[in-house]
Amino acid sequence: MAAQIIDGKAVSAKVKEEVRQEIEREGLEVGLAVVIVGDDPASRVYVNNKKKACEVCGIKSYEYALPAETTEEQLLELVDTLNADDKVNGILVQLPLPKHLNEEKVIERISPMKDVDAFHAANVGKIMIGNYAFLPCTPAGCMELIHSAGIDVSGKECVVIGRSNIVGKPMAMLLLHENGTVTVCHSRTKDLKEVCRRADILVAAVGRAGFVTADMVKDGAVVIDVGINRNADGKLCGDVAYDEVAEKASFITPVPGGVGPMTIAMLMKNTVMAKRIQSK
Ligand code: GUN
Repeated sequence: MAAQIIDGKAVSAKVKEEVRQEIEREGLEVGLAVVIVGDDPASRVYVNNKKKACEVCGIKSYEYALPAETTEEQLLELVDTLNADDKVNGILVQLPLPKHLNEEKVIERISPMKDVDAFHAANVGKIMIGNYAFLPCTPAGCMELIHSAGIDVSGKECVVIGRSNIVGKPMAMLLLHENGTVTVCHSRTKDLKEVCRRADILVAAVGRAGFVTADMVKDGAVVIDVGINRNADGKLCGDVAYDEVAEKASFITPVPGGVGPMTIAMLMKNTVMAKRIQSK
């Protein structure tokens, strides 16, 4: 039987509407600074989408588009300025940065109270402990999609493919917090196919188009596709071979229109949370 499609656009719109109402109801003044360095076209699209979402929610967005040659000193100086600016509740530095800039150093410079990506070590630590204010946006978006489909994670076999700091590792933590039995796979995993076939919930965050094929998926599994890739024709596609996997899964997220819009919706939630933390 064909899988039910989890509509990320619809769930994202709902989350953003909740954020908008919250801001309106309480008359909050919320600001998000978005920093982009260089002219990576994918980053430009993401940043534009983040700005649009701010508009929808009633969050003021401040864009800082810096040239690719920006020095680390200049970027750190901008972060310091934004840390000190009361109008700016959240700071997001779009990744990846040009190679001459040290991403870790830049992230660690952002005030943890304004780190709406939850990439700072202090926030990552809190996620690990399970006592956190900022949600890691993409994993939290995946959880929201899982919940929207009425799926209870508790006791389920969860397999995450990918171990990045941005997605794989925090995703594993969120599933664990909801009592999933979690396995994290990566490029050195032996018998990847067999491990994936155990999954009741399979999360693909690999970064390779069509990586997850039907033979890796158990009948009736929930498949969450975090990938955003371009295939040979330049078409946007996920990490999952959608058509064949949709024949086997019970639920599946499409690309585009699945996890992508959720990441931005969760960013909006975090930005309001940042405002609350700073108002205390
Ligand atoms: N690059 C890809 N995903 C993200 C994200 O969630 N946040 C930032 N800052 N950069 C990214």
